[in-house]
Amino acid sequence: MAEPLLAVSGLRAGYGDVQVLWGVDFAVHPGEIACLVGSNGAGKTTLLRALSGLLPPSEGSIRFAGGELAGASPERVLGAGIAHVPEGRRLFAAMSVRDNLLMGAYLRRDGAAALARDLERIYEVFPILAERRAQDAGTLSGGEQQMCAVARGLMSAPRLLLIDELSLGLAPAVVDQLSDALRALNREGLTLLVVEQDVATALELARDCHVMDSGRITRSAPSEALRNDPAIREAYLGVI
Ligand SMILES: Nc1ncnc2c1ncn2[C@@H]1O[C@H](COP(=O)(O)OP(=O)(O)OP(=O)(O)O)[C@@H](O)[C@H]1O
Ligand SMILES: [Mg+2]
Repeated sequence: MAEPLLAVSGLRAGYGDVQVLWGVDFAVHPGEIACLVGSNGAGKTTLLRALSGLLPPSEGSIRFAGGELAGASPERVLGAGIAHVPEGRRLFAAMSVRDNLLMGAYLRRDGAAALARDLERIYEVFPILAERRAQDAGTLSGGEQQMCAVARGLMSAPRLLLIDELSLGLAPAVVDQLSDALRALNREGLTLLVVEQDVATALELARDCHVMDSGRITRSAPSEALRNDPAIREAYLGVI
């Protein structure tokens, strides 16, 4: 198998005296969709925050595309090619959809033509955002907001997109639409790491799935293997 795009080892992080990540080890390969699942409070959001430079790790390594990113600032991580779609979307509610998307590109220096081309591609993938481009982001539906948040992440032209809670609060039809869009982007070369509370959705979307428990990755396996695993079926899929 090819070298991993992202290789995390021994990663520890927390908030003040509260340690949350207790030595996280896992890898994401170029061109794949990987999922991170785990119960509430397991540390999934904390892990994504540590990966994107928002929370400095106390120990461990984050290798990305041949470089070391542990301790790097959010700007450096974004510049290196990792974008983060946060839990709760965090759009600029009083700004238009288009301006939200352009905010995602603030670090790019590859010129207006490249930005315009990427914006057009995003409007192809999410036609509803093209329709709503002049509308304030705060007026979008939940599903549209999630599309806008994903699209804003894409506007940094990342190699790896981290998405926290892809489907939370969204209707199944919207989740299907988002999943289809992510698959299309993945076919064009984007690598994805998706935190997903709905394990059935996660296993359907991802090639590899990582299970997080109490600040560690306790299981990493192809989705296919997890789907047929009795313990996973009982704990997460509600089938015995
Ligand atoms: N800012 C913070 N200060 C202190 N503790 C925090 C902070 N943010 C998170 N925690 C704690 O870290 C632990 C992991 O939280 P985290 O949000 O990473 O979990 P999660 O797996 O994303 O959960 P969920 O599925 O509910 O989103 C929890 O015990 C939480 O209370
Ligand atoms: Mg979370």
